[in-house]
Amino acid sequence: MADQRTVELFDEFMDLVRGFVAKHDLGYPEYEAVRKYLISIGEAGEWPLWMDAFLESTVNTTSYGVGAWTPSAITGPYYKENAPLLTEKPYELPMRPDEPGEPLLFRGKVTGPDGAPVGRALIDVWHSTNDGVYTFFDPALPDEYLLRGRFYSDDDGSFEFRSILPVPYQIPSNGPTGYLMETVLGRHSWRPAHLHWTITASGFTPLTTQLYFEGDPYLDNDSCSAVKNDLVISPTSGEHDGTPVTLAGFDFVLQPVAERVTA
Ligand code: DHB
Ligand code: FE
Repeated sequence: MADQRTVELFDEFMDLVRGFVAKHDLGYPEYEAVRKYLISIGEAGEWPLWMDAFLESTVNTTSYGVGAWTPSAITGPYYKENAPLLTEKPYELPMRPDEPGEPLLFRGKVTGPDGAPVGRALIDVWHSTNDGVYTFFDPALPDEYLLRGRFYSDDDGSFEFRSILPVPYQIPSNGPTGYLMETVLGRHSWRPAHLHWTITASGFTPLTTQLYFEGDPYLDNDSCSAVKNDLVISPTSGEHDGTPVTLAGFDFVLQPVAERVTA
């Protein structure tokens, strides 16, 4: 049995596309160009990248809704499940012995909209290397959970971990996604530096979001249109155990399950 909603959505979507073709008088040269381009995305294995770059932000914002909680942001194509669960403090994301990058000390807190601390929230953090690439997705890196880790917030909702500071990231520019952004549209294929988060706690909708850093040149022109002002933080220079570190922090407010917008 066909699912009625799926049938309606598909028919409406195709009507929109057909109307678009008719409205702009698209003929065979353009049809062939689009057909060839779409096939090339599949052949390059870039559908995850393309979908997340051009569409995920809208789906993400629609799903999580806007309210008295931390705005959500896209997952992107580089999440890897089951990152190591850190249990020994101070928490440090897994790194190579001489991991390049500026040391980062991040302090945060998890609460509900009423400010009540959320203890034992499971925090899953991941980000790129200092070269702007992600393990498991870049062939030059070992298939290991580098710069990916999970840990729980303390009873008072607070948490602290060390890592390195992420840097701006360029979407692979030699494939069809980068070609569209750069050559066809005349834009660039960069994203501002960001930390990825998924925070899960009983009674709350899981929050998937990103944090960005003030002063980043790509905040206003993110190639994935995923930046939100409330997710931009201002790190400071500090010192920890006698060594210079970048200090950053954020207080995450989770959305109570009862306020969930869509399933
Ligand atoms: C993409 C990459 C990211 O690191 C990210 O956070 C979101 C999207 C992308 O390449 O599409
Ligand atoms: Fe990313």
